[in-house]
Amino acid sequence: MAWFNIAFVGFGNVGRALAALLQEKEQVVRERYGIKWRLTGVASRRIGWRIDPAGLDVDALLADGSSGRTLPACAGVREWLAAARADVLMEMSSVVPASGEPAISYLRAALEHGAHAITANKGAVVHGYRALRDLAEARGRGFRFEATVMAGAPIFSLFRETLPAVRLLALRGVLNSTTNLILASMEAGLSLEEAVAEAQALGITETDPGLDIDGWDAAVKVAALVTVLMDTPIRLDQMAREGIRGLSREEVRAARAAGTPYKLVCWAERRGDEVAAGVRPERLPLADPLARADGVTSVVRFDTDTLSLTVSEDDPTVRTTAYGMLADFIGLVSR
Ligand SMILES: NC(=O)c1ccc[n+]([C@@H]2O[C@H](COP(=O)([O-])OP(=O)(O)OC[C@H]3O[C@@H](n4cnc5c(N)ncnc54)[C@H](OP(=O)(O)O)[C@@H]3O)[C@@H](O)[C@H]2O)c1
Repeated sequence: MAWFNIAFVGFGNVGRALAALLQEKEQVVRERYGIKWRLTGVASRRIGWRIDPAGLDVDALLADGSSGRTLPACAGVREWLAAARADVLMEMSSVVPASGEPAISYLRAALEHGAHAITANKGAVVHGYRALRDLAEARGRGFRFEATVMAGAPIFSLFRETLPAVRLLALRGVLNSTTNLILASMEAGLSLEEAVAEAQALGITETDPGLDIDGWDAAVKVAALVTVLMDTPIRLDQMAREGIRGLSREEVRAARAAGTPYKLVCWAERRGDEVAAGVRPERLPLADPLARADGVTSVVRFDTDTLSLTVSEDDPTVRTTAYGMLADFIGLVSR
């Protein structure tokens, strides 16, 4: 039986769902994979740097945050990782699309500390992928980020583990479930503001919902896919980005009534040695699989030089995102 000390940065929707899922799956993870874990650190700006190397009380943390001791305010991520004796960092802080920070610094600190680094934060992938991948390799540790795109659906692991030697030529998808849900709510008669409030109540918007409706979240996901799966780093300012803020309830309802609903479409394609990519609202015929992604369902079609395939993730929740991180954890430490 192998023991792993896990530390969380970020204890919002995803962090709390992951804590609950780790507890729920404790028995199967132990019996099937020989893995035991304890949560030895939790950190956020409000929580501070909380630790207990013997294991925090997860129920107490989830109930009122009262477990463990807090390091002095002057402590930083490195001191915290050492005090928590962390073997794995689960990085779940709010995304900062323009820089990927401070997530990249947290992940780098974890790898330099000797821990595996797992993140749900797409900004860290877009801005830090190559450096973190190379650092992980040099340190004999893993850097994983499955939950960053399509929550728990295997996308990065699909290519890494099961599609050797393919060349990805193009992709097209509906990848921001929040805007998809908002569009569906607008089709049902809500205003943009009411639909955003509904999505916030479900806990599925970014910390700043503007990141969803202005297409930033979708653009960061496309950039993450292009960076990793096409091995071509792309900056957000190199992409054509248009969100759904400009669409009125009337336009959205009329498009649905005409059988060509609006979807916020993410796309990327190779053009010679370059990759062009973007995000834009499009009216799609119902025969298009992307048009049939309703509510929070996400779908992506990949065209490679040897096969084309479509992955759909139906009705993911924040628990699905947590599952993406749990799968990364098991994949890394059960090798
Ligand atoms: N929600 C989803 O279904 C979903 C799906 C895929 C990916 N993600 C990604 O997962 C991450 C977390 O999402 P969420 O829904 O859990 O967001 P959330 O509920 O807003 O929680 C964010 C957490 O990060 C902490 N945080 C923010 N800035 C921080 C900083 N600079 N240093 C340390 N902690 C910081 C926040 O606490 P303080 O304010 O106290 O710092 C909070 O605990 C994001 O990167 C998001 O893009 C979320």
